[in-house]
Amino acid sequence: MKREIKKGVYWVGKVDWEIREFHGAEYSTHRGTSYNSYLVKDKKTVLIDTVWSPFDHEFVENLKNSGDLQKIDYVVANHAEVDHSGSLAELMDHIPDVPVYCTSNGVKSLKGHFHQDWNFVPVKTGETLDLGTKKLMFIEAPMLHWPDSMFCYLTEDNILFPNDAFGQHIATELLYNDLVDQAELYQECIKYFANILTPFSRLVEKKINEFVDLNLPVDMICPSHGVIWRENPLQIVNKYMEWSRNYQEDQISIVYDTMWNGTRKMAESIAEGIESQNRSVTVKLFNISHTDKNDVVTEVFKSKALLVGSPTINQGVLSAVAGFLEEIRGLRFKEKKAAAFGTYGWSGESVKMINEGLEKAGFELLNDGLKLLWNPDAEMLEECVKFGNDIASQLEL
Ligand code: FEO
Repeated sequence: MKREIKKGVYWVGKVDWEIREFHGAEYSTHRGTSYNSYLVKDKKTVLIDTVWSPFDHEFVENLKNSGDLQKIDYVVANHAEVDHSGSLAELMDHIPDVPVYCTSNGVKSLKGHFHQDWNFVPVKTGETLDLGTKKLMFIEAPMLHWPDSMFCYLTEDNILFPNDAFGQHIATELLYNDLVDQAELYQECIKYFANILTPFSRLVEKKINEFVDLNLPVDMICPSHGVIWRENPLQIVNKYMEWSRNYQEDQISIVYDTMWNGTRKMAESIAEGIESQNRSVTVKLFNISHTDKNDVVTEVFKSKALLVGSPTINQGVLSAVAGFLEEIRGLRFKEKKAAAFGTYGWSGESVKMINEGLEKAGFELLNDGLKLLWNPDAEMLEECVKFGNDIASQLEL
């Protein structure tokens, strides 16, 4: 429903309390999400982004019932991914001649999605749309996180609409950052950065610096998911700067899968070895076949080292570990260390394969890894403790 966030500026999005998987099944949304659309009414009226297609009818009906639909002079599509553009088809059926402002890549992507030749107006950084007393300035933001991505900025009200950037997957009726649980808010922010923006970290830093150089005051940041940043809005910008610089905490994550608990026992003994060597480091263990992969990636993001374990099966690794290695390959983490471990009974390729996967993902190996034959006994587990001691010592240097 419509909510005024500043005089003449309205949130007209949709809160989705039910969604638990996003991007197909690629991103878990434990706390739901929202698709934020904004309406700015000045002498001219502009609609910034829409909502995901399952809600297109509801979205357009709301605009119609509030009397706003036929008053829309311009539509801005900051990003063509369908959680934001999904209602365009239904919307444009009602206002077919209204110009749609987006980047030139946005035109390609929107045409690719909807196969419609709407009245597209491609824009570049610095170009503005005059609304009467206020202006909307466009700022291209390629790869944050798609090639078509764009921010826009409303003068006089000093509002930045950065689309996905600075957003979080949270369903709430509270609308603003200062009203929600701060731990939950930041958990979702860092999860979003870790899982979506890690490969583009350099570009995040560059884009933020470019924006700072524009010297525009910012009173409010209105992303396309989750809450609006109205209290100290630059706090999330500062966090993004911190996260974009190869972020790490004093944490080691141990990610493994196991068949008959041999590799699990190795993981636990390695953790014991790390902790006994360094009491201040946080060690977290995750059985990847039982843990949400996006949550694990968030923990890897926070870690200075990642240990990956799998027994050998069919001359390879368990499928959940293979999937995890592929996941981190695409994320291109930087300046993180790693090591591999696992049990085997016959051929014993898992450690070598994990090492290859970790190196391909950009991790620096701390050692050759540890492989143990059959189910580890007390003496073998002592070897794991020693392995953990050595890793902790190397990381303290
Ligand atoms: Fe929220 Fe890139 O879509």
